[in-house]
Amino acid sequence: MKLFIDTANLDEIKEAASMGILDGVTTNPTLLSREKMPFKQLLAEICKVVSGPVSAEVVALDAEGMVKEGEDLATIADNITVKIPITLEGLKAIKTLSDKGIMTNATLCFTSMQALLVAKAGATFVSPFVGRLDDISHYGMDLIQQIVTIYENYGFETEVLVASIRNPLHVVDSALIGADVATVPFKVINNLIKHPQTDLGLKSFLKDWEKVNKG
Ligand code: E4P
Repeated sequence: MKLFIDTANLDEIKEAASMGILDGVTTNPTLLSREKMPFKQLLAEICKVVSGPVSAEVVALDAEGMVKEGEDLATIADNITVKIPITLEGLKAIKTLSDKGIMTNATLCFTSMQALLVAKAGATFVSPFVGRLDDISHYGMDLIQQIVTIYENYGFETEVLVASIRNPLHVVDSALIGADVATVPFKVINNLIKHPQTDLGLKSFLKDWEKVNKG
């Protein structure tokens, strides 16, 4: 499973990249609003750090505007993936941009039928939001299972990118189901590596190392 980082913070992206586990980045308008750098400059910097897909979202609501914004974003770097909200207009924009060879990430996915339609339109990625479903007492991971099954049934090439991840168990479940990608906030990435038994074991090994006859 590929791991993307869900942030627009350059320091977090650099740190995750240095861990050797980073396959891409997802941003959205909320994440960009937390950063000081002008957003296009920031996206260009991010694309220099990470060679995998870097999602940047359009804000136009009509297909024509989305395509125009998407084409403009795609000039920033070859690895920009244009993030398009799943609406009727978004569907048209996904089709147009995909036909032009521009990578797309269909975002704000909350049903398996939305996922089916964006795959038919040629989206590179679909982003189902598990955390936001959990927030309203729906099992977000059930949606991931449905989409993975439907895509397998028909051989769709659209990659399932699990978004709105809030904790390590979302990442575990994504991997067990066989999602293609999980986009994970920096804090959760750090929590994936930690285990108290690892810390305790290391402490005890280092203590015992002091007693070793070093010749
Ligand atoms: C990334 O593609 C999504 O925009 C992001 O994961 C949403 O996460 P949130 O629900 O925690 O805002």
